[in-house]
Amino acid sequence: MTDVISRVSRQPKHFLSDKVSHFTESVIREMTRQAMLYGAVNLAQGFPDFPAPAEIKAAARAAIDADVNQYAITWGAKSLRNAIARQMGLWQGIDVDPEKEITVCCGSTEAMISTLLAVCNAGDEAVIFEPFYENYGPDSILSGAKPRFVKLRPPASGNGEWTFDEKELRAAFDRHTKAIILNTPNNPTGKVFTRAELELIRDLCLEFDVLAITDEIYEHILYDGTQHISMASLEGMRERTVTINGMSKTYSVTGWRVGWAVAPETITNAIRKVHDFLTVGAPAPLQEAGAAALSLPAEYYAKLARGYRERRDRLIPALENAGFKCFHPRGAYYVMTDISRFGFPDDVSFTKYLVKEIGVAAVPGSSFYRNARDGSQQVRFAFCKKLETLDAAAEKLARLQPR
Ligand SMILES: Cc1ncc(COP(=O)(O)O)c(C=O)c1O
Repeated sequence: MTDVISRVSRQPKHFLSDKVSHFTESVIREMTRQAMLYGAVNLAQGFPDFPAPAEIKAAARAAIDADVNQYAITWGAKSLRNAIARQMGLWQGIDVDPEKEITVCCGSTEAMISTLLAVCNAGDEAVIFEPFYENYGPDSILSGAKPRFVKLRPPASGNGEWTFDEKELRAAFDRHTKAIILNTPNNPTGKVFTRAELELIRDLCLEFDVLAITDEIYEHILYDGTQHISMASLEGMRERTVTINGMSKTYSVTGWRVGWAVAPETITNAIRKVHDFLTVGAPAPLQEAGAAALSLPAEYYAKLARGYRERRDRLIPALENAGFKCFHPRGAYYVMTDISRFGFPDDVSFTKYLVKEIGVAAVPGSSFYRNARDGSQQVRFAFCKKLETLDAAAEKLARLQPR
């Protein structure tokens, strides 16, 4: 018996699912742990280090004081769904039925995986632009979809735009394609897809009968006069788009875990079922605070974007002075850089050196690509930080020397 116990306890891998064996640990969250270990300035993970708006914190406190403590309606508190529908009408001219077309989830992360689980069958394919937000890889594995990656190419000059090749995109679509996952404004590149690009994607979705799943959580963080266009607002796309969004980035509350998926009724019904069995519901009092957040005046969003522009314009010169080539973002709050001037063999050895010896944590570019070599000379910095945090990073980065 003792023999059996010791033999079995040496084989715990037998218990694991095949799916998990394909996962790697989240590099982004690992970099945050490294930043804590070395006391480094954390420009790795995309969470703000400044306070959330006072009004929405007050709304959360008021909801708890009013004993909003029990399960909300599975697909979301009515007040929040009404606010989401109202704002989608206001910002994007999209008419949404809050009773039938919205599912509130635990963050846009859950909205994305619930959507993919609701729509994908084994053998389906999902088109994804790369570099991509790292969750989309494991999301595809969990839902059984096979990712088909299409390259976003960096601009020759730092101030240009990331682009994709139309033919390459078309070649990724075929009869197995179920969905395209689109993230605009984009993490990590800062690309904001233009109307012409979205129309091109729309035409392919119509031609190949494909669903668009769009992650729009940076919709209000825009620079240089760029405009965010929701895919669902394009003619012909309302019936084949799932729009994913959330409170994390717009209201600086990444830990509250409130996000949502907006989709036509039939798709929403499927998403709601998955969501119900996955998490039952998002935090009830924070959904009430979400309704208050979505009622903030227009000036709130203008100020948010101005604040991020100031941070972007503080970090980029510091990075450029230190020797990075920066690809200037048009939206979201990251800057992707080229590190080839430093003479490191790859991005992982560079970020290890950066966090340990220089005291700044960043994310290795390879974590945004399927093949590590594609991102081996790229590193991403997040600038959703106080100006003094960015200044502290700048001081440390000034010590970097090319090898
Ligand atoms: C593109 C993108 N989607 C989703 C998320 C996660 O959002 P949430 O906090 O709503 O789950 C992030 C966070 O960094 C992100 O960059």
